This record gives sequence, C-alpha cells and structure tokens, in this order.
Amino acid sequence: MKIDVFTLFPQWFSWFFEQRHVRNALRLGHDLRLFNYRDTTPLSHGQVDDAPYGGGAGMVIRVDVVDAALEAVYGRERSSPRGRTVVLTPAGRTFDDEVAGELTALERLTLLCGRYEGIDERVREHLADDAISIGRYVLSGGELAAMVIADAVMRKLPGALGSSDSALEESFSPALEGGPEYPHFTRPASYRGWEVPQVLLSGDHERVQRWRLERSSARRPG
Ligand code: ADE
Repeated sequence: MKIDVFTLFPQWFSWFFEQRHVRNALRLGHDLRLFNYRDTTPLSHGQVDDAPYGGGAGMVIRVDVVDAALEAVYGRERSSPRGRTVVLTPAGRTFDDEVAGELTALERLTLLCGRYEGIDERVREHLADDAISIGRYVLSGGELAAMVIADAVMRKLPGALGSSDSALEESFSPALEGGPEYPHFTRPASYRGWEVPQVLLSGDHERVQRWRLERSSARRPG
C-alpha cells in the first residue's frame, strides 16, 4: 500500500516514522511519503493560504496551492495513480475501525492535511473523493488526524504487527463480533489483593474464549 500525505508540517511525522509497525510496513514494501504544499506553491514567497472570502478569523489553504502540489506529484492525469484522496477535516465522515478497514484495502491513499481555518472547499468538491474527521473536536491541523489514520490503517497490513494474531482479536474485529476488546491481565496473578479472574488461570481454552466474548459484549456502549 502507498500512503501519501500532503502537509505544511512534514517534520511532525518524524516520530511516526520511528514506530515499529510503521518501520515493519515500510520494510515489507509499503510506502509512506510526505509532500510539503510550500515546496510546489505557484505563489511567491512560499505563500500557501489566504484570508477567507466573506470575512472571519484565520487563514484558508488555497485551492490552487493544493492543485499544484497534487499535479507536481501525480501529473495532470491524476485520478488513478492518486487512488483515494481524502481531505482531513472536522466536517468529514467519522473515522472508525470500519473506515480503517475500507482504507486498508486500497492500494493507494492520499491524505490532505489542512491548517489554520482549513482548506478551500473546492478541494473537497473537485480534488478529493472523501472527507474524514477523526472526532468531534477541532485540531490545529490535519497532521495528527493523518497519523491516526495511517497508524490504524498500517497496523492492519499483514505483517506490520510483530505477531500476526494481534490484529485479529482486537477491538471491533469480526472475531469479537464488532465489540470492544476484552480486558487483559498478566502476572502477577494477585497484586495488593487485586486478583486476576480465575477463568484465565484455568487453562480451559473454550471457557476463556466464552468469557472473553462475554466481557467484550458487556463493554459495548449503550
Ligand atoms: N483537522 C482539524 N480537526 C480535525 C479532525 N477532528 N479530524 C480531521 N482533521 C482535522
């Protein structure tokens, strides 16, 4: 899978590249590339944003700047090499495990980060195919959202996690019938009088599985 991120702050991602599952995914031949809108802006002095029409606080990333950045990477005929192009915005559809699975199935994913007050709406209308929010709050830019999405997507790639089983039975997976993950315990079995549930020490795999499913469904909200 190839993930491209367009941002004004590529340095924010240095930490992300150091994470083990990201390095594993890259070693397996997947790709995560960063592009700075400022490097390809058609405006002078590295300008990338402008005041909003109609007035109001803050600055808006210009559509011509985003268009130039996409053209520099993908050329004019950009629909297929770009794959799915997603604007990151609090006004997008909400990201969850199902959306992560949908994106993981793509060969190519392009994430467009906004900054300041956001991106000119014509980017969403004409240059992107999707708009995603990672939650009902406003971040100072799309960079953290891009990392959240890239993290959730990349850890689903086969081999990205050290143990291939770890993504199978985690929260919201079909193995847990879409429910949240069951509680985990490790040694010591007793600590300050806080005991690990007996069933987990029983060695009875079927009972353990039943208990885990029960606990997972008990944790479902509402
Ligand atoms: N940019 C700013 N806030 C955001 C959010 N909640 N989700 C995605 N992108 C954003």
